Amino acid sequence: MKGLFITLEGGDGAGKSTQIRNIERFFTEKGLSVVHTREPGGTPISEKLRGILLDNDNSEMDPVTEMMIYAASRAQHVKEVIMPAVQRGEVVICDRFVDSSVAYQAYGRELGDMVRDVNRYATGGLTPDITFWLDIDPAAGRARAAKAGALDRLEVEKMDFHYRVYEGYRRIAESEPDRVKRIDASDTVESIRDHIYECLEELCRSKGI
Ligand code: TYD
Repeated sequence: MKGLFITLEGGDGAGKSTQIRNIERFFTEKGLSVVHTREPGGTPISEKLRGILLDNDNSEMDPVTEMMIYAASRAQHVKEVIMPAVQRGEVVICDRFVDSSVAYQAYGRELGDMVRDVNRYATGGLTPDITFWLDIDPAAGRARAAKAGALDRLEVEKMDFHYRVYEGYRRIAESEPDRVKRIDASDTVESIRDHIYECLEELCRSKGI
């Protein structure tokens, strides 16, 4: 049996971590084995690259350099963790994936189509079975992220950057409605969970799980 690959996306402070725990519970209760991972990161090499990407001291990093380091971190992650787990029939839940690069680097940094092209090489074309976009207004999300702790190199970007990222997610969701489910992140934690569970039940039915 082939497993499932599920990703969560959203601007900063959208509440992804809480919902990842709920998704994990959904599948463990069905008796499936779950791998919970994140990007950038998820392997020793990718976690080192994460350190470089999020370090506030690296303010001179060029947008193309940034995009390629995200893609490099992802290539390692796909080969070392995600693909092997999916091939073993496990459920992989990943906090961010290619859609983050499209939103932050193609739209936020305005690098355009090259981001998808580079990421096709990095992932071998691997696409999630389902993606939850936790939709939160950028200003509200940033306020939540700032409350939660110090802001990293991407989070400290100006608000117009975060509005471009938001527009990126909006367009991804609009162009791939079957894969990308928009979830209103201003709802209560319970309503968000219920909405996600409905989508997962439907996915499981369609896959015969
Ligand atoms: P992280 O602390 O994991 O953010 P969050 O808790 O909001 O998920 O930091 C990841 C940061 O990197 C986040 O600001 C989004 C950004 N990012 C990109 O710009 N491109 C990418 O491809 C990925 C995966 C993340």
